[in-house]
Amino acid sequence: MIGRLNHVAIAVESVEKAAAVYKNALGAHISKPESLAEHGVKIIFVELPNTKIELLEPLGENSPIAGFVAKNPAGGIHHVCYEVDDILAAREQLKATGARVLGDGEPKIGAHGKPVLFLHPKDFCGTLVELEQA
Ligand code: CO
Repeated sequence: MIGRLNHVAIAVESVEKAAAVYKNALGAHISKPESLAEHGVKIIFVELPNTKIELLEPLGENSPIAGFVAKNPAGGIHHVCYEVDDILAAREQLKATGARVLGDGEPKIGAHGKPVLFLHPKDFCGTLVELEQA
């Protein structure tokens, strides 16, 4: 079921500062910043040959990552995103194993315009998992 690693998301206080680290120290190609008000995040992508790093900054008072950044002021890995071919089939297969889908369990349109679901970190080795229908 699980496909490619689509991205690793790192939550930080400033995506510009984080992107400068990737650009200047690591020589990475970075995207322009985008503010996604409906997701409560500002993002910059670091484009790597085989995957992406998604730099996330809290946007607005109700940002879903505000608490994470407050607890991790130096930044930290927030989630990993795996691709699946059929997100509803993946959800049913996961639920049958006892895995918990976050929220109301219905796929939402994610930061890349594709349907996504999030899975409970306690069911996946302490890591928040995003599934994206590729
Ligand atoms: Co993501």
